[in-house]
Amino acid sequence: MSLNQVIKAIGFVAIACFGQVALADAIPYTDKSKVNLGQSIYEQNCASCHGRNLEGQFNWQKRSADGYLPAPPHDETGHTWHHPDQMLFEFTKYGPQKFAGADYKSKMPAYDGKLTDDEIWNVLAYIKSKWPDQIQRKHTEAFSK
Ligand code: HEC
Repeated sequence: MSLNQVIKAIGFVAIACFGQVALADAIPYTDKSKVNLGQSIYEQNCASCHGRNLEGQFNWQKRSADGYLPAPPHDETGHTWHHPDQMLFEFTKYGPQKFAGADYKSKMPAYDGKLTDDEIWNVLAYIKSKWPDQIQRKHTEAFSK
């Protein structure tokens, strides 16, 4: 093998490994200090709609007459835990329009420019840390392996 081939091979292995790490630990919900940081971000930015206890707004599945959905819960009664890490991240960063199209009407803000990527991962860590063990495990098994 030439030196060039060796360097290419090492680069390839490094990409494969880092890809794996990022996927396995995308939401750092077992890291206490990140969860704590995420809690204060949640209280300042998300609780007003999604509820102090992640309970969401009343009748969250029913669109209002003017076409808006109330904020869904982030606890185990909602469907936040049905979605992969990366989707939750992008939903928070870019807003629902990223998935539902530019014309979609929603009260959910996009946090791009308001929260850093780390802050978004930390707030998701706080949310996931509040789920019962069984739900955490289901979510990890479905999406983070
Ligand atoms: C002004 C109210 C409001 C605030 C503040 C808000 N959200 Fe939302 N959020 C919503 C609404 C409404 C939806 C439902 C989206 C729709 O309109 O279809 C939603 C949906 C979501 C979803 C998708 C959940 C699912 O089950 O599909 C995520 C994830 C989310 N919000 C995260 C956050 C995070 C994290 C914060 C704080 C950084 C936040 N939201 C702040 C109103 C809000």
